[in-house]
Amino acid sequence: MPAVKIAPSILAADFANFGAECRAAEAQGADWIHVDVMDGHFVPNITFGPAMCKALRPHITTVMDVHLMIAPVDPYIEAFADAGADMLTAHVEAGPHLHRTLQAIRAAGVKPGVALNPGTPAEAVAPVLDMVDLICVMTVNPGFGGQKFIESQVAKIAQLKRMIGDRPIHLEVDGGVDAQTAGRVVEAGADVLVAGSAVFRGGSASAPAPYGENIRAIRAATEGVWA
Ligand code: DX5
Ligand code: ZN
Repeated sequence: MPAVKIAPSILAADFANFGAECRAAEAQGADWIHVDVMDGHFVPNITFGPAMCKALRPHITTVMDVHLMIAPVDPYIEAFADAGADMLTAHVEAGPHLHRTLQAIRAAGVKPGVALNPGTPAEAVAPVLDMVDLICVMTVNPGFGGQKFIESQVAKIAQLKRMIGDRPIHLEVDGGVDAQTAGRVVEAGADVLVAGSAVFRGGSASAPAPYGENIRAIRAATEGVWA
């Protein structure tokens, strides 16, 4: 098994200092940077759009993992591809044409991901398994950081792991991931852990050592789980 990847969500970083926050998170051991795009329509919160992603791109040397919590998705795919997203994840619930959306993301030269809200069954992604590079299991209802991990999603992670089989698909978990919950989700089959508040708490871009301690604590909680 490859090592678990930790993807800090900049939703929990200093919004006035995103470039430095991304550089600090990477310097402190982040494997990917998770970028939460919210539209105030699909989710009850607004963050930022493709222009912000484009501005962030030079500050990210690993993987820019863009989580689209927007509806509709399709009119914005080109803009996020142009912004330099490596991974572009759309929600199953964002519209009636998931298959078309994933095709369009791939055609734009970006790796497609698909995300499932906590109330959406694993089976919803069965018809598109061969189209995606990543499946994101939401372990909170999307829209805000710092929410409580929803335990019932662990069984769904395990079910998706079985459905993926030997396909080269990342299984990402997003929401309430910290050193307490990380072991359980990795045991269930996750290999990418998004963590916002659990990474960015206690530090800042100018005093980032706590980010490293937080990342190491999450990673340590997953070690040996696959053995
Ligand atoms: C929630 C976002 C998450 C969020 C996770 O809608 O998709 O990426 O930032 O935050 P924590 O880790 O604080 O639950
Ligand atoms: Zn997210």
